[in-house]
Amino acid sequence: MLDQILQLFAKHPGQFLSGEEISNQLNCSRTAVWKHIRQLRKEGYLIEAQPRNGYRFIREPERILPSRIASMLRTKRLGHELKVYESLPSTQQKAFEIAAKEEGAQEGLLIVAETQTAGKGRMGRSWLSPSGKGLWVSLVLKPSVTLQFTPQLTLLIAVAVCRVMNRMEIPASIKWPNDLLIHGKKCAGILLETSAEDERVKLAVAGIGINVNLDTDDFDEASVQRSTSLKIAAGRHIDRESLLCDILYELEQLYDLYLQKGFEPIKSLWEALSSTLQQTVTVETLSGKITGKAVGINPWGALIVETSPGECTPLYSGDLKS
Ligand code: BTN
Repeated sequence: MLDQILQLFAKHPGQFLSGEEISNQLNCSRTAVWKHIRQLRKEGYLIEAQPRNGYRFIREPERILPSRIASMLRTKRLGHELKVYESLPSTQQKAFEIAAKEEGAQEGLLIVAETQTAGKGRMGRSWLSPSGKGLWVSLVLKPSVTLQFTPQLTLLIAVAVCRVMNRMEIPASIKWPNDLLIHGKKCAGILLETSAEDERVKLAVAGIGINVNLDTDDFDEASVQRSTSLKIAAGRHIDRESLLCDILYELEQLYDLYLQKGFEPIKSLWEALSSTLQQTVTVETLSGKITGKAVGINPWGALIVETSPGECTPLYSGDLKS
């Protein structure tokens, strides 16, 4: 049915087709037409809808072109080896698969998918990844650090993404540990997964998910209350390739700073961009709920929560509830 609607639009380039016309041609109800149009939009087709005139085909789904990324990339190492897929279960899974092969994965390898069928979020959650509308990417890093330092990397990536958004005049902030929020709604998340040998990180795969050009109807009813996209926040369409290149550049600058000077400068940047510090928070950890005032980040990247005057607990991971 979706194919038939596309064929119908192709026969009438630039023209509006009313819901009635489409439903007659396709021998289905107008509600069914609306559902199919919604599905096409979810797949990234741009279709204009006007109450009186009906529907008009504007363009096919946008695609990330490796050649365009290569022409805009300003990094020294990150993203030069680039693999773009139309659909993957998860870019994280693909990065680990490549790393497990005999040739392995080099630092800087970037996996990009237009859509993910089993996108992974933190704490075993799933991650919505509609086609052609977001940045769903995994970046391979090989920092020479022990496992206890990996929370620092997560914070570093959140800082890089947040700084790029702020430069685009999008008022994003970081909710501990790595959610990017705009006016309290989540627009991006980071999932850092590692493999280690004798406590040393062999491979860190930084999964970055950014809701770039999602529209309100891309979210389900429950998540629309707590999620947003850069397009919704900025009120304009965002060029995903240029955003990706800016993020890789910022990330490389911060990563080099981290490798040379350690975590201290990153920690200060994170603290300045955080919406969590100085707030009373409840964090769900594996060992139970902890409530207190978030007062800072310790040298290993853990959130310091003051549970009672003078009593502080460092939290390395968890789910922040408030
Ligand atoms: C979170 O906030 O829960 C983290 C979300 C991370 C999502 C990204 S999308 C690209 C990469 N591949 C995945 O399956 N997950 C990460």
